[in-house]
Amino acid sequence: MKIKDSVVFITGANRGLGLAFAKAALAAGARKVYGAARDPQSITLPGVTPVALDVTQPAQIEAAVRACGDVTLLINNAGISRGASFLGSPDAVADARAEFETNFFGPWAMTQAFAPVLAANGGGAVVNALSVLSWISFPSVATYSASKSAAWSLSNGLRNELAGQGTQVTSLHMALMDTDMAKHMPGDKVSPEDVARQALEGVEAGKTEVLADGVTRQVKQGLSSETPPYAAAPA
Ligand SMILES: NC(=O)c1ccc[n+]([C@@H]2O[C@H](COP(=O)([O-])OP(=O)(O)OC[C@H]3O[C@@H](n4cnc5c(N)ncnc54)[C@H](OP(=O)(O)O)[C@@H]3O)[C@@H](O)[C@H]2O)c1
Repeated sequence: MKIKDSVVFITGANRGLGLAFAKAALAAGARKVYGAARDPQSITLPGVTPVALDVTQPAQIEAAVRACGDVTLLINNAGISRGASFLGSPDAVADARAEFETNFFGPWAMTQAFAPVLAANGGGAVVNALSVLSWISFPSVATYSASKSAAWSLSNGLRNELAGQGTQVTSLHMALMDTDMAKHMPGDKVSPEDVARQALEGVEAGKTEVLADGVTRQVKQGLSSETPPYAAAPA
């Protein structure tokens, strides 16, 4: 599908990658960009229509669908990371539940709710913001990684189930990005603007998967190795 003249709905559009998606969609000629945020007043980019939306709140999802019946591209971007390990964090189970609510059940509920809208508008597309951590795990983000692994499977399953109505699903994987989520983490970071641009180009090219940086491409390539990257034991 073309981004030009599309109607784009972005979750978590007030900052980070979501804001970069809003800018990229406008730059690519989208006809309308809905910027969803828990606090709609935090959507300040000119040309973006604010929508109040917490992706864990079913009533707010229903209201968003009623208000935005012209959407052709849904971008499930909102995400959280609690920085919990499975065995070393005192509230690991609560942290994991919160991450799964936002990172897995949120995109699932959003896609379920918007699927009939996308079908009515010709099929369109869904982008799911995943991570290189869909495929590898570190103790400092173990529960988050589990939620992104589950979200990868969700994305693959949704692709199967939406193919019949002509809706394409693009999974977006990346390593560290220069946003609030990764601000305390050392290391090279890709810019959210670059990631958003690559993702929209991937949608236009009909790609099922966009791997936005070298680390992510290397990890993906290593999955079939005798010594896959997820089997290493990082400190
Ligand atoms: N940064 C990285 O290194 C990195 C790497 C790989 C993948 N990712 C993924 O990329 C996506 C964007 O992350 P980011 O780096 O832009 O993170 P970020 O800077 O922390 O921004 C997260 C966004 O998600 C929103 N959000 C959180 N919980 C929400 C909820 N329940 N309902 C609606 N919105 C909610 C936040 O809204 P508020 O302002 O209201 O909190 C914010 O807009 C996420 O899915 C993340 O997991 C990030």
